[in-house]
Amino acid sequence: MQQGRVALVTGAASGIGRATALAFAREAAKVVVVDILADEGEETVSLIKEAGGEAIFVKCDVARSAEAAAAIEAAVSTYGALDCAFNNAGIEGRMALTPDFEEEEWDRIINTNLKGVWLCLKYEIPQMLKQGGGVIVNTASVGGVVGLQGLSPYCASKGGVVQLTRAVALEYAQSNIRVNAVCPGGIRTAMSRRLAKQPQMGKTLPAPMHRWASPDEVAAAVIWLCSDASSFVTGHCMAVDGGFLAQ
Ligand code: NAI
Repeated sequence: MQQGRVALVTGAASGIGRATALAFAREAAKVVVVDILADEGEETVSLIKEAGGEAIFVKCDVARSAEAAAAIEAAVSTYGALDCAFNNAGIEGRMALTPDFEEEEWDRIINTNLKGVWLCLKYEIPQMLKQGGGVIVNTASVGGVVGLQGLSPYCASKGGVVQLTRAVALEYAQSNIRVNAVCPGGIRTAMSRRLAKQPQMGKTLPAPMHRWASPDEVAAAVIWLCSDASSFVTGHCMAVDGGFLAQ
């Protein structure tokens, strides 16, 4: 990646988002750490600064339009541009059979995982158009490609992210804005630890590689998708799943 780029990461207080924020900083990007959790978000900023990087924290619920707009605005007002955006914030929700979810659980998962990505795109794209281009990566999931039992709202939201990614990539393919997604499999984070405790988890995630991945392994894919090395890649949903989707 070119030095001095401005990279915004949502869900950067934890897991994949934090690992990617740190990876952007190692690439000498200025990082906008966005999350609903303030203390943990500030901790990500401290980790970046301790390593000699530059970062700010913006508290934001990506499911709220005004807050998503303000996060993108903070990137531009602080660092003057928005070159890379990693729309990654997400929640898994409870595991249950489809009829057993409450309406508010459904709304919360869809609003965070799918509407939240759309709201970020809504404010990122005009800024990227204004400055002549940019790169966006959304976090989907293997659950956006195949069904995972007990996680139907999550799968629906992530399937939506896959299709949103493809549609947006087509719209801006001639405007120097690339839009891709990553589809992680089992990654060791707070989310997967919470899921592993659910009795229904059963056989959902045994990858052919027979291990869980580090969040750094997803971060590496995101950094590549945001770099000029992937300059002809757009509308792609890249599995980072130890072979799970190849089964
Ligand atoms: P995590 O729970 O460690 O981190 C998620 C972060 O998103 C947290 O810091 C949380 O505060 C933030 N967040 C949640 N709702 C938010 C909102 N409304 N606005 C702003 N921030 C919000 O989880 P992890 O594993 O790092 O997940 C990151 C992404 O990767 C999610 O979209 C998740 O669905 C996806 N993913 C994770 C997999 C795994 O095995 N860990 C597998 C496939 C996808």
